[in-house]
Amino acid sequence: MSAAGVVVVGGGQAGFSVVQSLRGAGYEGPVTVFADEPRLPYQRPPLSKKAHTEPDDLGIGLVPESFYRERDIDLRLGECVAAVDTAARTVTTASGERVPYEQLVLATGARNRPLPVPGAELDGVHSLRSPDDALAIGRTLTTARDVVVVGGGFIGLELARVALAHGARVTVVELAERLLSRAVSPRLQDRLRERHERDGVRIHTGTAVERIEGRGGRVHRVVTSQGPLRADLVVYGIGAVPREELAREAGLAVADGVIVDEQLRSVSDPRISAVGDCARHPHPHADGLVRLESVQNAIDQGALVGRRIAEGATVPYQSLPWFWSDQGPVKLQIAGLRASTDEVRVVAGDIPERVAAYAFRDERLVAVETLNWPAEHLAARRLLQQDVPVSPADLSATTLGALARARRTKEVRA
Ligand code: NAI
Repeated sequence: MSAAGVVVVGGGQAGFSVVQSLRGAGYEGPVTVFADEPRLPYQRPPLSKKAHTEPDDLGIGLVPESFYRERDIDLRLGECVAAVDTAARTVTTASGERVPYEQLVLATGARNRPLPVPGAELDGVHSLRSPDDALAIGRTLTTARDVVVVGGGFIGLELARVALAHGARVTVVELAERLLSRAVSPRLQDRLRERHERDGVRIHTGTAVERIEGRGGRVHRVVTSQGPLRADLVVYGIGAVPREELAREAGLAVADGVIVDEQLRSVSDPRISAVGDCARHPHPHADGLVRLESVQNAIDQGALVGRRIAEGATVPYQSLPWFWSDQGPVKLQIAGLRASTDEVRVVAGDIPERVAAYAFRDERLVAVETLNWPAEHLAARRLLQQDVPVSPADLSATTLGALARARRTKEVRA
């Protein structure tokens, strides 16, 4: 067996961030990354923002293959880790190779929840996670007239707008009573719905898909609890589940994610860390443990673990969570973590399409959701990350951007 170093399982944004930060911080031991996908690590956000028909136009590249070679990172594309032996400190690949580790980082991500209805296997029914999924959807969109999107979350609404821009008739079927109920506060959900409906997206909430019917093996219509919908293309985005099997089978604590401490070490084994979509962790902005599905979280957690291993830096994970979603003309941005019990105040911006929702807990700002208002989002990120207290009274007659400017001016004068 080779010398033990760092083994990373997962070649997504989080796994990439771990090795980038490890070598960036001067770690000189062996680094091996097992990535079950056959392609170089890439970024996923562009996949749902437009229709893709050619692999060269995906726009998802992170770094070229030479990045790994020059840094002596053993990148094993298309190789899957099948088991972890925590006592022997080895991983075993699907082909039977055993590789030792000093430190193991699980960056296994999440998988899309499958659509549990008859007909989901028909041609023309897709979920979106990989570049191949994006290409299949993009190519079908060039001819599709009727598109049914199942799930009114991030993937569903982004793709609904992509399909609309292609001239398709688009219907979103959402099981819950509201769109984006996981991500944003009810009044912003209403604003988003109004905007998408005004532009021509048909939206059925509180509606279940019962089955999908085909003709000659291809999707023809979607039968819902509100009646049938004609469809040449069905895209579903009904949530993601963490890939935690490897951790569970290795005997680590898991519960909708690998449970880690504030330094992102497994609570069962300090030589094993988990980062990104698969990790459930404490966070100063959350009540209890959270699992966050976002690029920011993947990058920041990967970087923290890379530095901890390289430098021995024992810093708790406390990066401010932030998210964004481009839904046609609407840019939704979220900073901070909102709980359903927080008090939310919605404020219109200086131009009609700008809106902000400020969430307060115990009279203190904890999260800000904005539509088409990047400056306010950035101000929110700065103030929340710096832990600057902002009360409802502070925002009674001004924006966060103006408040941040006023406070900076005051500091300069003081
Ligand atoms: P999501 O959790 O954002 O939305 C899923 C939606 O599907 C929810 O509204 C839920 O109520 C609904 N749903 C659940 N079961 C259903 C059913 N049987 N029929 C109809 N509706 C149903 O998850 P989504 O959109 O699938 O995204 C998957 C992953 O991709 C997540 O990790 C997400 O964060 C990520 N993503 C993030 C983006 C962003 O941050 N801009 C963009 C695209 C994806």
